[in-house]
Amino acid sequence: MKQFTSVHDVQDVNALVNEALELKNKPYAHKSLGQDKTLGLIFMNPSLRTRLSTQKAGMNLGMNVMVMNLDKEGWALETRDGVIMDGATVEHIREAAAVMGQYCDIIGIRSFPKLQDREEDYSEDLLNKFIELTGAPIVSLESATRHPLQSLADLVTIKEQAAAGKKPKVVLSWAPHIKPIPHCVANSFAEWMQQADVELVITNPEGYDLAEEFTKGAKVLHNQDEALQDADFVYVKNWSSYEQYGKVLTDGEGWMITNEKLALTNDAKVMHCLPVRRGLELSHEVLDGPNSLVIEQANNRLYAAQAVLKRMLESI
Ligand code: CP
Repeated sequence: MKQFTSVHDVQDVNALVNEALELKNKPYAHKSLGQDKTLGLIFMNPSLRTRLSTQKAGMNLGMNVMVMNLDKEGWALETRDGVIMDGATVEHIREAAAVMGQYCDIIGIRSFPKLQDREEDYSEDLLNKFIELTGAPIVSLESATRHPLQSLADLVTIKEQAAAGKKPKVVLSWAPHIKPIPHCVANSFAEWMQQADVELVITNPEGYDLAEEFTKGAKVLHNQDEALQDADFVYVKNWSSYEQYGKVLTDGEGWMITNEKLALTNDAKVMHCLPVRRGLELSHEVLDGPNSLVIEQANNRLYAAQAVLKRMLESI
């Protein structure tokens, strides 16, 4: 595997999920694979789970791991081509990325969208420049439009928890939030679930439909109660409007998943990528109750990352 930026970089999704589950059983079975290999993790935005799980995944495979919060610790980065750098930016991505490629065998990069200009965000300019300029295999640690390591961990969690012999109904349910939130997790989740043996239903208020390139084939309902009927898994996530790009259109009253909402489901397991705003996105009672999978889901981030890094190490 030369890059991991979306589900489209994976030849056999089921095999990758199974590999993550095997690594969960034997996390240190491939300790020699990463010997004398260096993983560089570059963050332009905050992180808890992605940073620690990917760092640990590299260490479990015997890699040396370097982490840099480039937005705070690096030189102010210029990403536009052809500009005269007589302003605030100090280093161009052309040199910065190429230099990182000298030090690292595999590079992970996190860069969120600005949510100002849809075309600019959806062009994935920064991620594509890293792919072009580093010359190293690239793992997306969450880009402007997708969060593939999260989605792989989500699918691993669903596979572990689904009842045997039944195609699970999985509902991606929009949740309230006070701030404009990117589409990455929701886009990516929709894209991965379309490759899995699940029935995907997406529910969100009017004006919050995700881009069709990610949701094509899924049922989209604006009535949450109808969507929740008989659900086996409810994946809770906020996102801002795609149509009115980056805008918050409603306070989302009535959209938070509570025990009352869960009563409409098939005793559904509840997922969220975290961090979560308690009492706003998800109720305390659900997060602290027996149906919540959020901690196990976060645990599976480690094995998802390890499966991807293992594939990359095998192809270096
Ligand atoms: N879910 C997730 O990506 O968490 P972090 O932002 O803390 O890495």
